Amino acid sequence: MSDAVIEKVDNDGVVRLTINRPKALNALNSDVLSALEAHLVELEAHPNLRAVLITGAGEKSFVAGADITEMRDKTPEEARAFASQALRTIKRLETLPVPVVALVNGFCLGGGCELALACDWAVASDNAIFGQPEVLLGVIPGFGGTQRLPRRVGPAMAIDLVTTGRKIDAQEALRIGLVNRVMPQAELESYVEELTKQLKGNGPQSVRGAKQAVHDGMDQDLDSALALETSLFAFCFAGQEQKEGMSAFVEKRKPNF
Ligand code: CAA
Repeated sequence: MSDAVIEKVDNDGVVRLTINRPKALNALNSDVLSALEAHLVELEAHPNLRAVLITGAGEKSFVAGADITEMRDKTPEEARAFASQALRTIKRLETLPVPVVALVNGFCLGGGCELALACDWAVASDNAIFGQPEVLLGVIPGFGGTQRLPRRVGPAMAIDLVTTGRKIDAQEALRIGLVNRVMPQAELESYVEELTKQLKGNGPQSVRGAKQAVHDGMDQDLDSALALETSLFAFCFAGQEQKEGMSAFVEKRKPNF
């Protein structure tokens, strides 16, 4: 497989994907998108997957957007195909059955911000810079930003960001709910280690079910979403995980999932 995306798997099913084009600040070109999609297709079939981390190579950038050099001469048809490839790939990331964490280690612009928006968590270093600067290039966000951004931060802030193209720092990204945590870059790795440890300690099927309930429910009306939650909750009682988790509580010991 190409080295445009590097995959590292630990023994407990936590997978790290690193977008590996540091000289271009990890900008997303067709090669990166193809490599990322190939990894995601494999991960969809991973039997013991527990969590996925995604980050950018180097210390300066998560992803500085779609590749402007590659896009410059595209026709409308080619632009549509490029956006479709990206949307399909980003959707695969979003719908992985386990928590997906973006480690935002620097620039998170345009297509990079759109990639982070598809993740369940975004943990940012305090030097990270966010934005949807497409209007400065004569285009609009094309990798889902006009749709996922308002769902994450509300329509008023989304309109602000996509029409001005202004960049915001990590603290503002935290304030508007674009990211979950901000910390010094040196602490990012240890924080993520703690987070994955916590996730790995929980029941794997329960974690998957909780993610599924939130994701699938968001697109439904409240009553249908609550019915979905009830079904997924009841389904937990068909498995060993619930028996072990509740027995461990009653027996005052740690569960062994
Ligand atoms: N596409 C292609 N190359 C990029 C890139 C991008 N999005 N972002 C950075 N690069 C390249 C630069 O061209 C440069 O390459 P060379 O060394 O060969 O000249 C290299 O990465 C380093 O970049 P800079 O020298 O510009 O670094 P800097 O620290 O001075 O600036 C930056 C960093 C502010 C992120 C600046 O690079 C920048 O503004 N990049 C573009 C950001 C952007 O507009 N992103 C949105 C793209 S459009 C999009 O994503 C559309 C969509 O929704 C699908």
